[in-house]
Amino acid sequence: MKALVYHGPGQKSLEDCPKPVIVDPGDAIVRVTHTTICGTDLHILKGDVPTCTPGRILGHEGVGVVEATGAAVSAFQPGDAVLISCISACGRCDYCRRGMYSHCTTGGWILGNTIDGTQAEYVRIPHADTSLHPIPSGADEEALVMLSDILPTGFECGVLNGKVEPGSTVAIVGAGPIGLAALLTAQFYSPARIVMIDLDANRLATARQFGATDIVDSSTDDPIAAVMALTDGRGVDTAIEAVGVPATFELCQDLVAPGGIIANIGVHGHKADLHLERLWSHNIAITTRLVDTVTTPMLLRTVIAGKLEPARLITHHFTLDDILDAYDVFGRAAETEALKVIITP
Ligand SMILES: NC(=O)c1ccc[n+]([C@@H]2O[C@H](COP(=O)([O-])OP(=O)(O)OC[C@H]3O[C@@H](n4cnc5c(N)ncnc54)[C@H](O)[C@@H]3O)[C@@H](O)[C@H]2O)c1
Ligand SMILES: [Zn+2]
Ligand SMILES: [Zn+2]
Repeated sequence: MKALVYHGPGQKSLEDCPKPVIVDPGDAIVRVTHTTICGTDLHILKGDVPTCTPGRILGHEGVGVVEATGAAVSAFQPGDAVLISCISACGRCDYCRRGMYSHCTTGGWILGNTIDGTQAEYVRIPHADTSLHPIPSGADEEALVMLSDILPTGFECGVLNGKVEPGSTVAIVGAGPIGLAALLTAQFYSPARIVMIDLDANRLATARQFGATDIVDSSTDDPIAAVMALTDGRGVDTAIEAVGVPATFELCQDLVAPGGIIANIGVHGHKADLHLERLWSHNIAITTRLVDTVTTPMLLRTVIAGKLEPARLITHHFTLDDILDAYDVFGRAAETEALKVIITP
């Protein structure tokens, strides 16, 4: 089968690989019908993710059709249309019992990291019963690819951890797919203001269409002054970090109001300053999280009901044969205006 293989920092190729087989009784083999590329795949290609070693098939998002199941799989059978979660979960370990699937002792984020992933014609999914979700017939399968990772990430790490409430004020730093997913799902709670901050005018224009009440281009405007002007000098109740660099985490500390929450989503490779000398008395909370995908069934229902339209995040389409072009377009998002690219084997 064809698959996109990582060969160390800066190196990848589309090649012929053996089709995966059942290894454990809880496995399913899924024929991938749609997959995509995540910013995290670009982090891997930069060499930022040492757990991902050369020879690995990349990709942790996708939908497909079950091809074969191990003897212990009871929830799915061949022919079932399924959504693949980026997080594999046994459902039984101490962390899984607490809903912290991201820290499953025999799962977590392993797909396209420590085991072969979804940018291929077929993928082996461990703990299939608790790592796949059934897709109702008639659903827009392309749109559901957004539920493998980015929507649960924006919602769980940003909106839920940030305790967005009716009438509250929210700032989201970073209008990439993750920041936009937080923007879409924050609106479940009807906050009074959602201010999007980014350096990319195209993405800010998209954010406006997706429901941001205010946008701030921090390449030309001072985001602190802008947010203070919009909040009577108080700052926001929830400051969501959706970039993953020290400057934006530090900016969130300047945007959060007394009593507020800084909800970090970004993957950070460097230490960031924490201004406790100022914030100790401000009754704030700081949260971090690796997505658990524990809200995926709820998000799936909202999409099926038409309350959430994740297809709006899809900007480009490619076949698996052209996946190197897809990486190129996705990697130059500022020029190509790419958000999510759909790849079809
Ligand atoms: N916590 C988790 O479980 C989890 C899961 C998936 C992704 N992530 C992380 O979420 C982050 C966002 O992901 P993404 O795919 O949307 O990334 P992205 O790179 O597509 O988007 C980041 C956005 O931030 C903007 N930006 C960069 N520097 C900025 C600055 N100084 N000020 C304002 N805006 C700035 C960019 O213009 C871009 O639009 C990444 O760090 C990613 O690794 C975390
Ligand atoms: Zn991802
Ligand atoms: Zn577990």
